[in-house]
Amino acid sequence: MAVNKLAPVNASVKAGAPAAAVVPKIRIDRARKTFVQKNGGAVEAIRELTFDVAANDYVAIVGPTGAGKSVLFDCLLGLKTLDSGRIEIDGQPIANYIGARSGRITRIFQEDRLLPWLSATDNVALGLQIRGVPEKERRDIARRWLADVGLHEFVDALPSELSGGMRQRTNIARAFATAPEIILLDEAFSALDEITAMKLRSDFLTLAHHQKMTFVMVTHSIDEAIFLGNRILVFGAPARVVHEIAVPPGAAEDRVVADRIRDEIRTWISASGRDASRTVNSELENE
Ligand SMILES: Nc1ncnc2c1ncn2[C@@H]1O[C@H](COP(=O)(O)OP(=O)(O)OP(=O)(O)O)[C@@H](O)[C@H]1O
Ligand SMILES: [Mg+2]
Repeated sequence: MAVNKLAPVNASVKAGAPAAAVVPKIRIDRARKTFVQKNGGAVEAIRELTFDVAANDYVAIVGPTGAGKSVLFDCLLGLKTLDSGRIEIDGQPIANYIGARSGRITRIFQEDRLLPWLSATDNVALGLQIRGVPEKERRDIARRWLADVGLHEFVDALPSELSGGMRQRTNIARAFATAPEIILLDEAFSALDEITAMKLRSDFLTLAHHQKMTFVMVTHSIDEAIFLGNRILVFGAPARVVHEIAVPPGAAEDRVVADRIRDEIRTWISASGRDASRTVNSELENE
């Protein structure tokens, strides 16, 4: 199947033309976040992290475990605040964006997080209920999204009556139903068997393309990063960008290009292990 990724946003800008001042969809500028632990030690999760995400960009983040990737997503959702630095969406500080337009940025987790006592329709409609959409309208929207992810026969099913792949499809429907501008995927396909994951990635990409979505995804699968991303950011620990790779259209189907990108990522990941300085008070922790 042809990969349905959008061309990079600036691809249509002719060489030599003056670059327009485009406000990025997401701007992360010198972000820092350290957690103080109960024993008095401190764990640095994010260090001088800087990158932009253009509208309609598909950004894949790969990096070592504990590199602050999920913490970064918490900060993007306004659930955690940075110690210093800035996160802006559409040029606004993150707190203003979240406050004014609740629900326009959403996250899909590895596990489905569906409420077991609600039907697939009611689970998908939940985000709309929170936003005050009337019952009939929200159930109609939910059913449409469930049909779009291939679950039209399962709209009344409880999560326990769905397979793992179907539950994750429900979760994807729930994310799209709130009409977000940005989706954050935190290892969204990693709990699925590879055949199911491949189908879901492909279906997700089609929906993201149709909805003109911007997405940022964290994955431990290099092939998933190549398949879904226009750009791959290799993170070090604590979270910071140690390398960036542009993924040309069709890279996932081109063995030579995919192999080159895989090698490049592996080289940078092995070079970007956890810094000794990351655990600030390591002596205290070892006591
Ligand atoms: N609330 C918290 N309090 C203290 N430390 C925390 C908290 N949340 C995260 N951390 C620490 O921040 C670091 C980064 O965690 P995070 O969950 O973002 O890693 P990650 O990159 O998502 O890893 P993985 O790939 O394993 O999911 C970890 O060392 C973690 O222990
Ligand atoms: Mg994580």
